[in-house]
Order: sequence, then C-alpha cells, then structure tokens
Amino acid sequence: MTHSSAVDPTRKENSNQANLSNQWVLASNNKGKLAEFKRLFAEANLDVTIIPQGQLDIEDAIEDGLSFIENAIIKARHASRASGLPAIADDSGLCVPVLGNAPGIYSARYAGEHGNDSKNNAKLIADLQLIRNANPDTPIAGLFVCVLAMVRHADDPLPIIAQGLWQGEILEAPYGDGGFGYDPLFWLPELQHTAASLSAADKNNVSHRGQAIQQLLKQLSL
Ligand code: IMP
Repeated sequence: MTHSSAVDPTRKENSNQANLSNQWVLASNNKGKLAEFKRLFAEANLDVTIIPQGQLDIEDAIEDGLSFIENAIIKARHASRASGLPAIADDSGLCVPVLGNAPGIYSARYAGEHGNDSKNNAKLIADLQLIRNANPDTPIAGLFVCVLAMVRHADDPLPIIAQGLWQGEILEAPYGDGGFGYDPLFWLPELQHTAASLSAADKNNVSHRGQAIQQLLKQLSL
C-alpha cells in the first residue's frame, strides 16, 4: 500500500466532515423552520453553504414513517437523492402526553390540511377542552420535539442523528405574535412567555431546534 506524500500528518481528519461537499441541502419547505435555521446556521459559522430544497425545486418527501427519526431520515435521503448533495432534514412537532403524544409526527396536518397553523391550533384547543374542564387547575404538559438527520449521500448507511426536546405547557388561548405553528399555545412557566412571545434569538437559545442543532454540530466536529 502506498501513502501519498501530500498528506499533512498534523492535520486532524474529521470523519464526519471528511469528503463532504461544501454545499448541503436543507430538506424543508417550512418558512418558519427555514427562518430559524438561517439564524442557527449563521451563528454556527460552518464552512458550508446551506441551500433550502425549494431553491432546487425539490418537492416535499412523502413522510410515511411512524416516528420523528424515521421521517427525518426519509426527508434527508429524498433531498440528497434529488440534489446529489449531502442533506439535513428536520422532522419536528408537538407531543401532548394526555393525548397519547398527539399531534406528534402529524403536527403539520393535525387538522387535515398540511401547514394550516391556525386550524391546527384550534383543533388542539378543542381536543383538550374536556380534559381542561375536568381539571381546571392542572397545567397540560406539552413537549416540542426536533429530530435532525444528516446524510452524506442518499444511501448513507450511517446518518447523523440529533434530537432536541423542549418541555412546556399548552395554553387554552394563543398568546404572542412571533414564531410559527403551535408557538402561541406553548407556555414556558419559568420564562413567563410562550414560544411565540419570545424573540427569535431567545427561542433559538432554548428551543428543541436550537438544542438539536447544537448536538448536530458537536457530532460534526467529532
Ligand atoms: P414537519 O415539517 O413535518 O416536521 O412538521 C412540523 C410541524 O410541527 C409544523 O408545521 C408545526 O406545526 C410543528 N412545529 C415544529 N416545530 C415547531 C416550532 O418550533 N414551533 C411551533 N410549531 C412547531
């Protein structure tokens, strides 16, 4: 076996970044997520250009997994296959334990129509009404979940997986104008804010998505 004399022995090769293109596709068409990722990736100072899949005319994947992890991998492979580039996908949503963790992976289409935030919020409020009436003084717990999957190529057998969890309570009525999705119903008692009344920077500092990105970055630097 021959060794190339061009190899710098002092260079610490990073197995998770080695051989990656410096353009990665972000497998999401969700405007709210894209705005958050723009900030998060800018702060991460990666030596990589992140291209939202919509800019490459890549349609949403068919999400037929049963868990956030399965769907994140499906989306990442789909974007990577369509683009020929490494891809990162986010599958996220809200789990409410008293509803058996619904809406869960169906968060975007809880009320039937994909991405209709106000209808989804109205359905969540309605679905919790009986439980709330029975125990008016008991807060209803909710958990935002974000799973990120990164594949170096479409058939990558070793996707990088990162997961962030964010605990809060579900309000009876929306509060706050920022964010997207279920943010106006997601109350953080220790901050006295909803996810929608936090600034974008403050949400990213503590959110499920912010936590997942930090984990992903750690794995990329291993
Ligand atoms: P996905 O695009 O299939 O992962 O669905 C994500 C859905 O989960 C969104 O459409 C929102 O309803 C919800 N969701 C995920 N992350 C957040 C968040 O940070 N705030 C509010 N809702 C979120």
